[in-house]
Amino acid sequence: MTTNRTFTMIKPDAIANGHMGAIIDHIIKAGFKVIALKYTSLSPEMAGKFYEVHAERPFYKDLVAFMSSGPIVAAILEKDNAVADFRTVIGATDPQKADAGTIRNLYAKSIDANAVHGSDSDENAMIEGNFFFSAFERN
Ligand code: CMP
Repeated sequence: MTTNRTFTMIKPDAIANGHMGAIIDHIIKAGFKVIALKYTSLSPEMAGKFYEVHAERPFYKDLVAFMSSGPIVAAILEKDNAVADFRTVIGATDPQKADAGTIRNLYAKSIDANAVHGSDSDENAMIEGNFFFSAFERN
């Protein structure tokens, strides 16, 4: 089933570098409606749980340390074809390979500090949105 929602996090690098407002603006101008939005931070335990699908990958430890190093913004977004369209808007995981004008091309520096996360499937969008937001927060 295809849903019209995706989930994003603005990562600690983008917050620390002052890009939070520009990235939210970019997302809205790209046609996404903000359904839920939260400025918060992740403990190492929570970051580890969020990214546990990557637990066996060599970058997992660094990823967990980085994602718990400072505040983040979590959001549920809505648009037709949300998951795929949002991945186009943010660009490739490695900012060096991200197309010009994408969020990672504009605001990210490295594959670790890559400014934003975007869900890779409808199923994960649901799981990730539920991780951060209670039922009444994601109506
Ligand atoms: P994200 O979309 O948040 O999902 C997992 C994250 O792991 C990814 O963005 C990157 O920031 C990070 N990462 C670090 N190294 C790699 C790698 N070699 N391949 C994929 N993701 C990586």
